Amino acid sequence: MTKKMTITSIKKSKGVTPLVMITAYDALFAKLLESSSDMILVGDSLNMSFAGKSDTLSATLEQMIYHTNAVAMGAKNSFIITDMPFGTYVNKKEALKNAITVFQQTTADALKIEGGEDKAHIIEHLCSNGIAVCGHIGLLPQAFRSEGGYKVKGRTKEEEEQLIKDAQAVERAGAFCMVIEGVKADVAAVVAKSVSIPVIGIGAGKDVDGQVLVFSDMLGLFEEFTPKFVKKYMNGAALVKKAVGQYADDVKSKEFPQDIHTY
Ligand code: KIV
Repeated sequence: MTKKMTITSIKKSKGVTPLVMITAYDALFAKLLESSSDMILVGDSLNMSFAGKSDTLSATLEQMIYHTNAVAMGAKNSFIITDMPFGTYVNKKEALKNAITVFQQTTADALKIEGGEDKAHIIEHLCSNGIAVCGHIGLLPQAFRSEGGYKVKGRTKEEEEQLIKDAQAVERAGAFCMVIEGVKADVAAVVAKSVSIPVIGIGAGKDVDGQVLVFSDMLGLFEEFTPKFVKKYMNGAALVKKAVGQYADDVKSKEFPQDIHTY
């Protein structure tokens, strides 16, 4: 069994070894994923790949708590980060109230907040009240509707400068690491070098301090769309459909159950 990561070991890994983060939403998959991951993210992407919605915006605190508890049952030896859903950290007071609810009702080790300079005051408030925070800068899925789609960042000098300011503000506010999503690879590399905490990329190239992928994307289970940055490590959807098809054929032809499956 590998040793569970801590805030200290996560911070110390910067410049030493790339960090592996994977999302999980339930005990079954969390158990399967935990031996290969340094951190498990209970992402609000569950609203899409688990709950079938078209974006993350309607995910609720109750959903995040339910799924975090399921993941924690399956991955007892993992550092677990839970996403704070859209609308739950609009000001310091609300953010702390909701963060405390998640910390009291789950065993999450840290919470993730989307936003940079604009959310630094929230991150600072949570950190100074005993909540460990992972930042999330660059493309922010919770800004999908207000920005009119998923917009890759770092395409202009102004965007690059803002990303550096965002990363540094998140670090100064007390976050122990941050996700950087959907950013031009050369810019993400500069951003990662501009701070001393790990910067975990998704769609941000390889010159960052680790990578995160949504498990249902990397296992080829989510069929609605596949972002350019996803590498599919198996064609899960085809494997599942084939197996279930064989089961259905066996039931119809009475090939299943056989004597070995019968009391
Ligand atoms: O919700 C999620 O799964 C995430 C990852 C895309 C980083 O935030």
